[in-house]
Amino acid sequence: MPKKSPHHRYADRYPVLRKMPDTGRPRNEVLDELQEMATEEDSFWQTGRCSGTMYCGDMPHYGFLKEAFGLYGHVNALQRDMCPSQTRFEGEIIAMTLDMLNADAARPDSQPCGSVTSGGTESILSAVLAYREWGRNERGITDPEIILPETAHVAFEKGAHLFGLKVIQAPVDPKTTLVDVDFVRDHISPRTVALVGSACNYGYGTIDSITDLSDLALEHDTGLHVDACLGGFILPWGEALGYEIPRFDFRLPGVTTISADSHKYGYAPKGSSVLAFRDRGLREQLYFMRQEWSGGKYLSPGIAGSRSGGILAATWAAMVSLGRDGYLRYARKIFETSFAMQDLVKSHAPLRILGDPTFCFSFLSDEFDIYHLNDFMRQRGWRFNGQQHPNALHMCVTRPQTQPGVVEAFAQDLEAGVSYARNPASETPRTGGIYGGQPKGVAEVQEAVRTIMVNMLDACQDVPTE
Ligand SMILES: Cc1ncc(COP(=O)(O)O)c(C=O)c1O
Repeated sequence: MPKKSPHHRYADRYPVLRKMPDTGRPRNEVLDELQEMATEEDSFWQTGRCSGTMYCGDMPHYGFLKEAFGLYGHVNALQRDMCPSQTRFEGEIIAMTLDMLNADAARPDSQPCGSVTSGGTESILSAVLAYREWGRNERGITDPEIILPETAHVAFEKGAHLFGLKVIQAPVDPKTTLVDVDFVRDHISPRTVALVGSACNYGYGTIDSITDLSDLALEHDTGLHVDACLGGFILPWGEALGYEIPRFDFRLPGVTTISADSHKYGYAPKGSSVLAFRDRGLREQLYFMRQEWSGGKYLSPGIAGSRSGGILAATWAAMVSLGRDGYLRYARKIFETSFAMQDLVKSHAPLRILGDPTFCFSFLSDEFDIYHLNDFMRQRGWRFNGQQHPNALHMCVTRPQTQPGVVEAFAQDLEAGVSYARNPASETPRTGGIYGGQPKGVAEVQEAVRTIMVNMLDACQDVPTE
């Protein structure tokens, strides 16, 4: 059991449960306790100073999702004979997503379809698994490889690790942050089951040249997954609003799968994403069926077994309550806010934005350690995502930033933060430094950081020692 850590923030306020309580508590008391923590935690991001994670931030919308979830939270979407509603929700979520990703362009040669998963990581894992199975079943590939930009989400490595594929990491241009397409071309082999591009990547918010990757995929007759987990539910609206968004969807003939997270800019509750397929043949590679199992004939469409009907109902409710005009309205404000914040960053000579991003951007400094700026901004309540190689700060603009006054506060705090970072209170920034004392070399640093990461994961899942 871990010692009490900063992750156990409620350990002093509420009794820590180390075993099942003998008697239950009144529901209203339990709800009051939940409400107390939720209200405090929500107040942190409701200021609009937190990057990403809270995509909608609109409490009446969250209330509406909760009602939709509440009607079906107890339903198991795997047992379809009992809940035809789930078939309606799932089919329509997929159909609406395919429409947004221009899957019509793939018809009639292909039959576009999709799969609803629990989030971006599961969509990516499922894609990696489907390509592995396709390679094995259709091409006889026993040692499959995927080629990824080094900026691709780490979930691809997780998938390769779980399902036994080799990852080839393609470098990116340090200025544009876009994948080196020549490197990808040079590394395609008879073992390649898929190429990967991001629209956009998590780190820099930039979009790889999916057009070039699509040409390569067609030329070499291999798969191409576009990771649009972050951008899938906002970039299409950006394009419709007239922003310059490079093509990344099924209008490009080499694109075979796209992951797009409904629980991000789709404004659905956490726990939903869509994996869209250009054609049914590839989706079938994900199906798992056992006809002889003693529990009965078993069939499941993907990695999960039982799934909550509440998630499908609330995802569907989010999408149909917004519709095209709702998504456009929200996207317009997000794009405007992001470009206003980017202009403020660009107005400070020591700061530099990486690549050519849209709603999500990352910046660094060639003059000072950007984590000094982060230290200052943190004190003012800002929570950016810290990056490394190179050190940079990432701001993913969501609806909470579009509230009145947030851009103005960013302007003021950034100005003061840049002055602070030029002359910081201590040589080493408090955030983003190397943990673990004074390690001697790279191996010691890695070992020390690994230990800290393991301890953190332990602490987040275990009650503290008494
Ligand atoms: C580009 C991209 N891909 C994949 C993911 C993984 O999504 P999730 O955290 O929902 O599993 C993220 C998460 O931020 C992302 O930004």
